Amino acid sequence: MKYCYTLKLCIAKPTMTAFVYAIFIALVFSFDSFSHASTASTKFGGGGFEEVALLTWKASFENHSQSLLSSWNGSGHCNWVGIGCNKACRVIHIDLESFGLRGNLSTLSFSSFPYLLSLELSNNSFYGTIPPVIGSLSRLTYLRLSNNQLSGRIPEQIGMLTSLVDIDLSENNLAGSISASIGSLSNLISLFLDDNQLSGCIPSTMGNLTSLKDLSLHLNQISCSIPPELGKLSSLTNLRLSGNKLTGSLPPELDNLTNLENFDICYNKLTGHLPNNLCLGGSLRSLLAFNNSLIGRIPKSLMNCTSLRHVRLNRNELTGNISEDFGLLPHIYYIDLSYNYFFGELSIDWGMSYNLTFLRISNNELSGQILPQFAGATKLQVLDLSSNHLVGKIPRTLGKLVSLFDLTLRENELSGNIPAEIGSLSKLQHLDLAGNNLNGSIPKQLGQSVNLIKLRLSRNSLTEAIPIEISQLKFLQNLDLGNNSLTGEIPQQMGNLQMLEILNLSHNRLSGSIPSSFSGMSSLTSVDISYNHLEGPLPNTRVFQDAPFETYRDNDGLCGNLSGLMRCSPIMSNGAKSRSDNKVVLWIVGSVLGISLLLGIGIFLVLSKRMGTTESEPRRGAVENLFVIWSYDGKLVYENIIEATEDFNARHCIGMGGYGTVYKAEFPSGQVVAVKKLHTSQDGEFASLSSFNREIHVLTEIRHRNIIRLYGFCSHPQQSLLVYEFLERGSLQKILSSEEEALGFEWTKRVNVIKGLADALSYMHHDCLPPVIHRDISSKNVLLDSDYISHLSDFGTARLINPQSSNWTSFVGTFGYAAPELAYTMDVNTRLDVYSFGVLTLEVLMGRHPGDLLASLYLSSGLSSSSDLSPPTAYNILLIDVLDKRLPLPRNQVAGAVVLAAKLALSCLHPIPQCRPTMQIVSLELSKESPSLQYSLPMITLGQLYNVNFPTS
Ligand SMILES: *[C@@H]1O[C@H](CO)[C@@H](O)[C@H](O)[C@H]1NC(C)=O
Ligand SMILES: *[C@@H]1O[C@H](CO)[C@@H](O)[C@H](O)[C@H]1NC(C)=O
Ligand SMILES: *[C@@H]1O[C@H](CO)[C@@H](O)[C@H](O)[C@H]1NC(C)=O
Ligand SMILES: *[C@@H]1O[C@H](CO)[C@@H](O)[C@H](O)[C@H]1NC(C)=O
Ligand SMILES: *[C@@H]1O[C@H](CO)[C@@H](O)[C@H](O)[C@H]1NC(C)=O
Repeated sequence: MKYCYTLKLCIAKPTMTAFVYAIFIALVFSFDSFSHASTASTKFGGGGFEEVALLTWKASFENHSQSLLSSWNGSGHCNWVGIGCNKACRVIHIDLESFGLRGNLSTLSFSSFPYLLSLELSNNSFYGTIPPVIGSLSRLTYLRLSNNQLSGRIPEQIGMLTSLVDIDLSENNLAGSISASIGSLSNLISLFLDDNQLSGCIPSTMGNLTSLKDLSLHLNQISCSIPPELGKLSSLTNLRLSGNKLTGSLPPELDNLTNLENFDICYNKLTGHLPNNLCLGGSLRSLLAFNNSLIGRIPKSLMNCTSLRHVRLNRNELTGNISEDFGLLPHIYYIDLSYNYFFGELSIDWGMSYNLTFLRISNNELSGQILPQFAGATKLQVLDLSSNHLVGKIPRTLGKLVSLFDLTLRENELSGNIPAEIGSLSKLQHLDLAGNNLNGSIPKQLGQSVNLIKLRLSRNSLTEAIPIEISQLKFLQNLDLGNNSLTGEIPQQMGNLQMLEILNLSHNRLSGSIPSSFSGMSSLTSVDISYNHLEGPLPNTRVFQDAPFETYRDNDGLCGNLSGLMRCSPIMSNGAKSRSDNKVVLWIVGSVLGISLLLGIGIFLVLSKRMGTTESEPRRGAVENLFVIWSYDGKLVYENIIEATEDFNARHCIGMGGYGTVYKAEFPSGQVVAVKKLHTSQDGEFASLSSFNREIHVLTEIRHRNIIRLYGFCSHPQQSLLVYEFLERGSLQKILSSEEEALGFEWTKRVNVIKGLADALSYMHHDCLPPVIHRDISSKNVLLDSDYISHLSDFGTARLINPQSSNWTSFVGTFGYAAPELAYTMDVNTRLDVYSFGVLTLEVLMGRHPGDLLASLYLSSGLSSSSDLSPPTAYNILLIDVLDKRLPLPRNQVAGAVVLAAKLALSCLHPIPQCRPTMQIVSLELSKESPSLQYSLPMITLGQLYNVNFPTS
């Protein structure tokens, strides 16, 4: 399981305890009200008013919502769905949670329901304000309106509902300040007002709510300081105030809160000390206070707080000796103390926190050594102790931390060798040891950490040559070895680092010439080789030819056309040139060989056919027949195509792609094929011809049920043609854009199309060597056959990740499907396809391109900071609101499959490429039996879906 930052780390969902408690209370009260009702109920049939009131309310809903309440007809409202009555037939419960209703509360005649105990309308789309007349529900114990679109202020009259035990108004657009009248609700146990636009101060009257166990005000605009009266809430177990604008110091009265389980004040502007007795009751599990300006030491009660699991105090001004202030925390799994002023040595206690997965104490004043016992925390995934004053050696035992994904020890005073054991950390993706006093050679074992993406060893005293084994790190994107004392030549094999974007070898003693293999490193966007003893020509690729002087200055004999370099002598440049000529020749030979092979297969098929040895099924046989004839007599087939398409008459055109027009050709024999005629571009044919060659090359190597079959090809000076199997239903785009066809394309078929695509991409990325990246996945390029099986097509821009692959072309992909990082990185990797797959999957589920939804999904692109809290704007959108409205909602198993597909799609759209799952994982997840839904479909929000992380490697 890979570590990825989630947005809402700081916010946990309301606990069940309050919920259960409230139901209990509601039950107790319903008996009570029954006795009232039986005496108070009148002969005039109060129930009649209720029925009229409910029908009037329903009539004000939108049509679709009305149809959801079809049982609300005739008389006998006590049997209507969502309505509960007491024995006197008076309404005591209205429970329409997650019904998908859209309506208004102002049309509900609250005064008709004097016996109402619970009003549960969460997870719908109620809009408008909460009417003040709600104050007439004098028996109400339970008011849950969360996750709607309610706006306006919380009416002051809410203070009249003194029986209330549970209020949940979270996830709405309520604004204004919280009325002081709320202090009258002395029976209140849970108060959830989080995720609204509430402003103003926390009313001091809240101190009267002495039964309160849950208080959630997070994600609002609440300002002022925390009122000291909150210290009176000694029953409080969950206090969540994060993501507001609270200022001032934490009042000392909060010391009275000794029973807290969750204390969350992160993302405010609070100062002062943490409350002293947070863990006095021994229940504290989660202490979240990051991004404030808290000062002073860690309170004593935390020293032996064995209940702690999750601690985030990063980015404050806390101080103290860390080995004295924290004892053994046996259950802790996540602790971030970075960016504070903690000092002292790391205690060996950390090594006994066996569930610890995340430990970050970077940017503090820690001293002493990293002790070998530290490695007892074998579940560690992230260990970041950077920017401290740690000394001594890096313990070899760190090699036992097999789950480690990020090891960052940069900017310390560590010395000695880099232990070879680090190479056994096969999950490691980031290794940053820069800015220490490490010496010795770079261990060749690092080549075994095959998942490394970032390797930074700069500013140390490393010696000897760069080990050849480094070139085995095929996922490496950033390699920084600058400012060491490395000697010898740059290994030729480093050209294998096809994903490498940033390479810094500056300030070393490297000699010899830059390996010719470097011209094949097509992802490279930044190279720094300055201050070495290199000589010979700079590779003739853009990254070197556009390099600024600073990045190649001060070498012994580099030559080239760049300023500050001598011209290469004729022998040298000729040498370089002839080498690249050779390459072209080799490539042509390779292509010719490839094509001959294809022809060879064709001839073999002809022969075996003639000899009657093939026993293919008849349907297949017909097609192979064509292929055979064509390879055998290309001219004849070409003529047949011209004839069948009436010389490419627009009448036969079935589609347009970026690189060509597709025609349907029906041969006299009855066989039907799709013919793609490549555009002949005005400025020579080279552009499309190269994509033609690429497509052939890729397609001849790929065989998969969800990838279109290429039957043959035809390269003519004027016209290049590709002949594919014909797929009856045409492109996904066409089907989705037609009302009629979209109706027939029901959920099971859609899910299968998504699965097929995932399989195809998983095959291309993980079963082909080298991996094939499609680079232009869009609904235009997915074709469906008569059984709605998806076939991926159009490899015009695909590029094999191997040294012979073509040079960089400026923009690939279709607008609207391209991953955001394409805007700033030239790195082409499989994660781009994963992103486009995510877009396409949403498109299949929504019936249209997700467009603006994409932008709002990941509003804050500053996600790279682990402490980002701002939720994206699409967080509250209901899944059913985005699903294709032309189809009825999916049910049962199919609903589970749709939800899973949506969940995977959202994870594929993660703005950080490394946090996207691989296609292998996506394909695997989709092939599992669909999970049954945890919640009913209508209440699932996109936010719930995308908080889930799939393992990414
Ligand atoms: C009225 O409600 C009953 C169930 O209570 C339902 O079976 C019937 O179809 C409904 N009638 C209409 C016209 O919606
Ligand atoms: C809360 O703590 C303060 C001191 O910080 C004390 O004066 C006050 O009496 C306490 N209140 C309650 C209700 O315990
Ligand atoms: C924490 O526990 C240790 C060992 O059990 C004990 O010596 C120490 O006094 C305790 N510290 C506090 C503040 O309770
Ligand atoms: C460690 O985590 C596992 C799984 O979450 C849990 O079952 C176990 O009790 C935890 N152990 C400790 C010591 O907290
Ligand atoms: C390469 O590293 C050196 C120091 O290690 C640094 O000064 C230089 O700016 C880096 N080059 C680039 C292009 O970032």
